[in-house]
Amino acid sequence: MSHQAGYPDSVRIVEVGLRDGLQNEQQIIPMQVKLSLLHRLEKTGLRTIELTGFVHPLWVPQLADAEAMLSQHQPLAGIQYPVLVPNLTGMQRALTAGAQEIAVFTAASEGFNQKNINCSIEESLQRSAAVIELAKANNLRVRGYISCVLGCPIDGKVKVSEVLRVAEKLLALGCDEISLGDTIGVGTPLKAKQMLEAVAAVVPMPQLAVHFHDTNGQALANILACLESGVQVIDSSIAGLGGCPYAPGATGNIASEDVVYMLNGMGIESGIDLDALVAAGRFISGALGRTNASAVGRAWNT
Ligand code: HMG
Ligand code: MG
Repeated sequence: MSHQAGYPDSVRIVEVGLRDGLQNEQQIIPMQVKLSLLHRLEKTGLRTIELTGFVHPLWVPQLADAEAMLSQHQPLAGIQYPVLVPNLTGMQRALTAGAQEIAVFTAASEGFNQKNINCSIEESLQRSAAVIELAKANNLRVRGYISCVLGCPIDGKVKVSEVLRVAEKLLALGCDEISLGDTIGVGTPLKAKQMLEAVAAVVPMPQLAVHFHDTNGQALANILACLESGVQVIDSSIAGLGGCPYAPGATGNIASEDVVYMLNGMGIESGIDLDALVAAGRFISGALGRTNASAVGRAWNT
């Protein structure tokens, strides 16, 4: 299909439901349910599925089965399975478990970083430096998340210059891709676009991803605005699962189904089978006993 002027021809979706989505669930979900979801996601055409996180199990009990998830899972060729890593202890756990790609994380606001990982931005960058060095020595690809790029639940406003500073550092440390996170979903389209374009002056656009939570219903509009600026990687979560246990008020990520529906309508290739994606979303919504947060997931007839 021919593409529309001003938009990329294709985008890659980074499915974060198994980590960012499930980390927010209070009830511990049986690993078999997580694996069933993973197998369904693998059949959709997704090329990147964030699998779990090697964070402290007391901080995020839902991800205490990280090692077991990796040992029970047979990676498929053509799919990347990044895992979240907060520090060297997490990195050593990830390496022992056989992770092939990792994601480090920090924030553009001090208040959130302290609450989320118990250290300052500077300290977290130093931790990331050590983690990335080890990852590179083991030929692992590295994503870097920056949280609170459009606002912080603790500090309020966040300066674009601070996002830029942190992005530049993560790139210099060796991140292959940097994901810009609107952790609490306070962004609106023009601010999102301006922030992305400012960061793209220091990090090449093909290395940037956008990560919107949908707290105020703006996520899809923000993604559209960022597509206009040429972003080619979009983080999203099956059935709109998500939130951050350390960001009061943060609700679900934008639903993967809704993003793919929009991309299909715009003639932007994602390589994803929407029917299969909707089926995966219905499975996990059913397993959690909740209404599907994806509008497409509720409406789409398969
Ligand atoms: P801490 O308590 O400051 O850690 O937690 P510490 O270094 O002081 O160590 C204390 C103990 O924990 C030690 O054990 C360590 O070995 C152990 P002890 O000597 O007392 O027996 N320890 C660990 N054990 C297992 N795995 C580890 C680990 N690290 C230390 N990795 C820490 C610091 C970073 C570990 C903690 O704060 C943590 O795990 N935080 C994670 C919080 C989290 O997962 N938040 C959500 C993810 S971020 C997010 O959702 C945003 C994102 O989606 C983008 C967006 O939306 O913006 C990515
Ligand atoms: Mg998130």
